[in-house]
Order: sequence, then structure tokens, then C-alpha cells
Amino acid sequence: MHTERLAYIETFGCQMNERDSEIMAQLLAQESYVRTTEISLADVVVVNTCSIRDKAEQKVYSLLGRVRMLKEDKPGLVVAVTGCVAQQEGRKIIDRMPFVDLVVGPQHIYELPDLVIQATHGHRVAVEQSKAFVIPPFLPAMESGSPYKRFVTIMQGCNNFCTYCVVPFTRGREISRSFGDIIAEVNHLAANGIKEVTLIGQNVNSYGLDQDPATRKTFPELLRAVAEIDGITRLRFTTSNPKDLSQALMDCFADLPKLCGHFHLPVQSGSNDVLKRMNRKYTIETYLEKVAGLRRARPDIALTTDIIVGFPGESEADFEATMQLVETVRYHAAFSFKYSDRPHAKSTEFPDKVDEEVKIDRLARLQKRLQEIVEERNREYEGRNLEIMVESSGPNRDGQWAGRAGSNHVVNFTGAGTFVPGQLVTVHIEHACSHSLRGHLVG
Ligand code: 5AD
Ligand code: SF4
Repeated sequence: MHTERLAYIETFGCQMNERDSEIMAQLLAQESYVRTTEISLADVVVVNTCSIRDKAEQKVYSLLGRVRMLKEDKPGLVVAVTGCVAQQEGRKIIDRMPFVDLVVGPQHIYELPDLVIQATHGHRVAVEQSKAFVIPPFLPAMESGSPYKRFVTIMQGCNNFCTYCVVPFTRGREISRSFGDIIAEVNHLAANGIKEVTLIGQNVNSYGLDQDPATRKTFPELLRAVAEIDGITRLRFTTSNPKDLSQALMDCFADLPKLCGHFHLPVQSGSNDVLKRMNRKYTIETYLEKVAGLRRARPDIALTTDIIVGFPGESEADFEATMQLVETVRYHAAFSFKYSDRPHAKSTEFPDKVDEEVKIDRLARLQKRLQEIVEERNREYEGRNLEIMVESSGPNRDGQWAGRAGSNHVVNFTGAGTFVPGQLVTVHIEHACSHSLRGHLVG
């Protein structure tokens, strides 16, 4: 009797992890593991973890609690912990949770299939150290993943050392993929029907800076080269630190119609004192100059951000400066978080920790105002025509199709006809909802 082996992969955290999970699924498929969405059927469970904030890490441990019970019923189950918690905790994970077989840091995902096979023979390991790692060229298989949009990893790691951030310790120092490999990957995707690519890295503005100065390409040069590739109709990227946002990158928004009008520009705080202690290396004044520059280059650009409240030493006046900043910029969307201490992060040692009740109160005040601004922003689209990339493969029960604007807004629309995911259509926006826009097809 032929029995299929099944792999369940759960992903926490950012797009880097989402892409890593896709790669791991493809590598396991080469060893005849079929991906399942039903954890109880799995022969291998991969928990691809995030440790950016305390809450993210707690979610990982609660899933692992469930996996422990599964394994009690199925002792042959192979359990792998990958991603940033794996890198951060290493062998301690196996010491604390003996049902875990493999601990594999983000730089070692290419070894996963071998390690899984060893584990099925009872050999358990932790591979967490990231040393002298070179990103292998990787041409993605087309059988799994979205039929029209993909992430392309262009670099790993971060050299910035913001004092609150765990990333330099989990993803290591900046390493760029070669220009040729990235272009080959996007060409391959385009040839297989992919329309939209998002170039990802923790700090994409530094792309190429670790490479040979004689031949290296900068991030704006890479964007321009990818925009030339036939078949790709939309280009996005994430994430970048405002301090490195150059004029050359702003010029791309003026010159490249394929580059979507959305920029995620994490500000973290509106107070220069707090920014200094965060080691962000920009001031609110220079941040606002960059916001103005982006809006000059692309007047309808949608700006989104990340904000931390309750950083050590944050006074009420510092927090008010953050509230003022969101009034000034009027973000199209924002993610906001309570500060939490992270292993290795410098701010963990800082004095003047903010009380939990104060953090909760500030976060609630900020999120209330952010949501009002987002809704005001959404209403600015009413009466306008937007180019939408279709995302759904059919209409929903109300006859609406789903798609996404260049600004990254989800747009639901009605219209006669049949559309395919990845197709571009023009939609007249009739109504702004709290988290999306609604309209009808034009033409
Ligand atoms: N505490 C709270 N939020 C954090 N972030 C990063 N580190 C921390 C931390 N220690 C937030 C930042 C970052 C986002 C991905 O997570 O806002 O931009
Ligand atoms: Fe989470 Fe950061 Fe790791 Fe992404 S790089 S998974 S956000 S800790």
C-alpha cells in the first residue's frame, strides 16, 4: 500500500518567514512530502517562528503545546522548530521541550529535508548557528504558491541594531543575493505567469552594500532592472529604514509606473529623544522631509508605518509627539505595538520601564486615532478610478470580486464578466469601508 507522507507548516511573523515556509515546502516536496493544512494528519510538523515581540513568541509556544499532545498519540511525528525563535533559543528548545526533534535557524532551511530524514531515523539535532552563510540561488518551483504574485528574497539580516530589535541576533548581518540570481528568479516567475513580485529583506535599502564595490548594484538599480522584465506588471518591496531612503529611491516612484504607490516607512516614535535611544539614526524633521519627497515623486502614494508605544523612558510628552506625528503624516494604515523586552536587545537593559497600564492606555489612544485617520483616508478614494489587480478566482455570494489597489487597499467590486487572478482592471470607488474600498468595474 502506498502511503503519502504529509508535512504541516505553520508560519508566524513577517514576509521573510512566509517566503522561507514556501521554500521549505518545496524542498520537502522533493523528498515526497505533500503539504497538508490538517495538522492532525501530518508526519512532519514545521513551526516557523517569529520572536519580534513577546506576544509573537508566546503564540509559538502555545502552538507547540498542542503539538506535544499530538505527538503523545503519534510518537513517530517529526517536530521541527524553524525561524527566529529557533535561532534565538537553539538547543534550549529541545532541553525544555523534549518532543521537539529539530531546531533549525533561518540560515539553515536548505538543510531541512536531510534533517527530517535523519529525524525519522531517530537522530535529533539543533542547527542554530549562522556563520558564513551564502544564500543559495533558488529557482522556485511553480506547483505551489500563488499563481500570480510572489515574494522574492533579495537580502537577509540587518546591521542597524535598533536597540529594541531582535532581528540582528536572529537573522544575522546583512547578506545580499547576487543581482544575477534575483533577475533569473524574476524572469523565471514571469515566464510562468507571475504578474506581481515583492522584493523582500529586513533592510532593502542596503541591498548590495556588502558586495564587491566594482560590480555591485544598488537597490534603486535593482528595482529599475526588475521593472524592465516583461510580464511583471506590479512591483513592490519591503522593508526599509527611513534613514537610508535616498533620492535615487524616491526617483523610482516618479519614473517606474510598475512600482506600486505604497511605501511602508516605519517611524516607531514621534519623539526625537526616543528615536535617539532607539538608535534609529534619523530625526522627525528628516523623516518628514522624506515623506514630502515621496509625495513629490508620487502625489497619491499611500504611506503606512509601524509605531512602538511605551519604549523605556517614554514620557507623556514623548507620546504626545507621536500623536502629533500621526496627525501630520496621516498614514493610510499603521501597525502599533506595546514595547516588550527582547533577548539580546540593548533596550532590555534600559532603566525607566513604562508601566503596563500606561502602555495599554497609550496604545488604545493611539489606535483609536489611527483608525479614524485611516477611515478619513479611505474616504478620499470615493469617486476615484483605481487600477486593481484581481485576487479572487470568482465572485463572492454578493457577486463581488476581490482585488488590490497599488496603494495596497483591498477593493471589492462588481462588474459583468469573468476575471482571472493577476488581471488588472479599472474600478470606480463608490464607498469606503473601515478596512477596504468598494466599487464597480469601469469599461
Ligand atoms: N517591542 C515592541 N515592538 C517591536 N517591534 C520590533 N521590536 C519590538 C519590541 N521589542 C515592532 C516595530 C517593528 C515591527 C515589525 O515590530 O514597530 O517595525
Ligand atoms: Fe519575526 Fe523579525 Fe524574524 Fe520576521 S525577521 S520572523 S518579523 S523576528
